[in-house]
Amino acid sequence: MDTSLATIVRLAKRRGFIYPGSEIYGGLANSWDYGPLGVLLKNNVRDAWWRRFVRLRADMVAIDPAILMHPKVWEASGHVANFSDPLVEDTVTHKRYRADHLLTEALGQAVDGMSMEEMARAIADQDVRSPDGNTVTAPRQFNLLFETALGPVETQQQHIYLRGELAQAMFVDCKRVAETLRLQVPFGIAAVGRVFRNEITPGNFTFRTLEFDLMEFEYFIREADWEVMFSYWLREMQQWVTDTIGLRADHIRVRDHEQHELSHYSKRTADIEYKTSFGWKELFGLAYRTDFDLRNHAAASGEDLRLTDPVSGEKFYPHVVEPTFGLTRLVLMLLLDAYHEETVRGEVRTVLRIKPQLAPYQAAVLPLSRKEELLAVSEKLAAELRTVMSCDHDVTQSIGKRYRRQDEIGTPYCVTIDFDTLVDQKVTIRERDSMQQERIALARVPEVMQEKLAESFAVFR
Ligand code: GAP
Repeated sequence: MDTSLATIVRLAKRRGFIYPGSEIYGGLANSWDYGPLGVLLKNNVRDAWWRRFVRLRADMVAIDPAILMHPKVWEASGHVANFSDPLVEDTVTHKRYRADHLLTEALGQAVDGMSMEEMARAIADQDVRSPDGNTVTAPRQFNLLFETALGPVETQQQHIYLRGELAQAMFVDCKRVAETLRLQVPFGIAAVGRVFRNEITPGNFTFRTLEFDLMEFEYFIREADWEVMFSYWLREMQQWVTDTIGLRADHIRVRDHEQHELSHYSKRTADIEYKTSFGWKELFGLAYRTDFDLRNHAAASGEDLRLTDPVSGEKFYPHVVEPTFGLTRLVLMLLLDAYHEETVRGEVRTVLRIKPQLAPYQAAVLPLSRKEELLAVSEKLAAELRTVMSCDHDVTQSIGKRYRRQDEIGTPYCVTIDFDTLVDQKVTIRERDSMQQERIALARVPEVMQEKLAESFAVFR
């Protein structure tokens, strides 16, 4: 059975992965804070991505661009004109809804690609109502860019946008990056960071939020190579999400966008989708953006953004294939995928089967009791392990409860210090998935733990 979202929402809150934002004030709709374990998990996923797609590649560099960009960037990119969703309003409550979502629900089938006129007609013909049972207005486009104001004097403020995607910075900076690092196509510029979208109907926990983290790169190529590079990056994305992140392969599929679904900048887009308990959902996207963005920025800024072929001296606009990975969405899918319940000796055990290198803690050190002589050993061991991995030191409640707690947050190894340790200088290592225990010399724990993790880190490619 696929894990329900409600199960993950409860686990995330109870164990410190993700909390409702601004909770003491009643919360702010669809804002979430990543708690102590959530931030460890998210950073580990981000680091796995960075290692595979930036650090291990000779053809990739990264930038850390500003969130606030010149408003002309978003005009030239087409976002001001085209980055919108169809919106209808309940004529009584004035609540707003995505027209395509209401129609999909009413008709029982996807309505992707319907024009505004077709949606308006379908809403009228089928008498589509809001969830409160009231009539709705005809759909109109609603821009997703978040606006803010720059400058301290209200009358002189300039309206600008919070970035809606990372990509634009890679286009705006492309020529400068290529020149400073002497890059020739093919090469990629990567970035990781927060983006903002004024989504009309966010929801499904952290699946669709108003702000979220993206990891993406623009891969600059010659036009003739786009189909080969598109297939190559699609394979890379699929392989990474199954082999490194460990999502079940039978829960992953690729779906090509129909012509009418394509974003304003894309000639071909494929989504990597994940099978959730609420349907197949987009996890990542891969788009062939042609030279659309560079040409538009060149025209709008008056700057020559072409690169120069080092052999022929020819000036050309590189084309772009763009793999985009939603980090926060991936963290949600990872929790859904890793969550397991099983019955052990008549008791339900919850276990997060996360790859060891991605787990919030790779190890937990558990002294059998809070006695001084045990704490002295366990604290010293935890401090030593922390120099090479993320390690918890868990002292409260019975050892059985502590094992269950660590299983539930995905800790792959627990190291228990008991009273025999003081005599024979040995400890027990328990493995999360098999629950097998072995007794080894205390002095060998860091080395043995690193050996155990090495196998898992080997797939960290
Ligand atoms: N630069 C291309 C781009 O931003 P996108 O398909 O709009 O493409 C990329 O978004 C990814 O961001 C998606 O595949 C998804 O993982 C994630 N994503 C999009 N909207 C989101 C939202 N409202 N909340 C959380 N993640 C989102």
